[in-house]
Amino acid sequence: MILDKIDKLLKEVNELKASNAEEIEALRLKYLSKKGEITSLMADFRNVASDQKKVVGMKINELKQAAFEKINYLKDQYETAENDSEDIDLTRSAYPIKLGTRHPLTIVKNEIVDIFSRMGFTLADGPEVEDDLHVFTKMNFAADHPARDMQDTFFVETNPEDVTKNILLRTHTSSVQARIMENSKPPIRVICPGRVYRNEAISARAHCFFHQIEGLYIDENVSFKDLKQVLLTFAREMFGADTKIRLRPSYFPFTEPSAEMDISCHICGGVGCGFCKHTGWVEILGCGMVDPNVLELCGIDSKKYTGYAFGLGVERITNLKYQVSDLRMFSENDTRFLKEFEAAN
Ligand code: DAH
Repeated sequence: MILDKIDKLLKEVNELKASNAEEIEALRLKYLSKKGEITSLMADFRNVASDQKKVVGMKINELKQAAFEKINYLKDQYETAENDSEDIDLTRSAYPIKLGTRHPLTIVKNEIVDIFSRMGFTLADGPEVEDDLHVFTKMNFAADHPARDMQDTFFVETNPEDVTKNILLRTHTSSVQARIMENSKPPIRVICPGRVYRNEAISARAHCFFHQIEGLYIDENVSFKDLKQVLLTFAREMFGADTKIRLRPSYFPFTEPSAEMDISCHICGGVGCGFCKHTGWVEILGCGMVDPNVLELCGIDSKKYTGYAFGLGVERITNLKYQVSDLRMFSENDTRFLKEFEAAN
């Protein structure tokens, strides 16, 4: 009796059909829910003679499995059909391709390189992982100069027998000066953009890496006047024709005399604001006449040749142009920040 019922249900299950989600759910309730037909077979099962229980039990399981599989099969078929029938609008225009933007530091670096290229400077490059010889020794740094200290410089390898062989991350692009002078003869007129590293705690105003552009010009009869004219031209090209410059005496081991250059504050026009600390001036670079010691250390006759050099910070110039208040923004890769420079690309 119960076996007939099972066979009948099995036949029904195998022939089940449904055309939408509600119908499928109705079938699931009819056969598999707590009050469904298969579950209610269990009540009859209790009355089955014990020698029959094994066979009947197996049949019920078989039926349950078949119903389960069939309903899942119907569900699958319905879902695939549903997806296939989704309308495709062939007339819709394509999604716009999102173009990347150039990094603000690259935009400003390119602008600076462009200005100096127009004045006859060519590009030069040097390694970021450098030796002491090029970063310090040939740049006329005294053996006990504080820049050679661990606190300022990241060392890759130290050599206690010969410090000039220490390997380090360059702390300034002036090291490229030494490389160029070693490998070429005057006249030399180059600019060297690149990344530099210093052992500083990272904050809004300091970072352990930043970017500089080094300039070097060596020839016969190069004077401080030439340096001043080139820097004035640069400042005016970069910040506008009415930009003023001023040179303050300073000290660098590799130049003599040395100076720091300020420009009239680009933000307030020289009247004083928070950015220029109400002085009307902002410092943008260091410069000077190449120290004869440097020329000699790099194999250039200091009696015949003179030269000037300068080094500027790309972040500083970018801050002046775009008022980026936190240096960390430059290296966080936040696309919302980078997108702000879309128009400058
Ligand atoms: N190397 C200096 C620095 O990192 C910048 C600098 C100053 C470069 C004067 C020069 C220079 O070439 O003449 O602070």
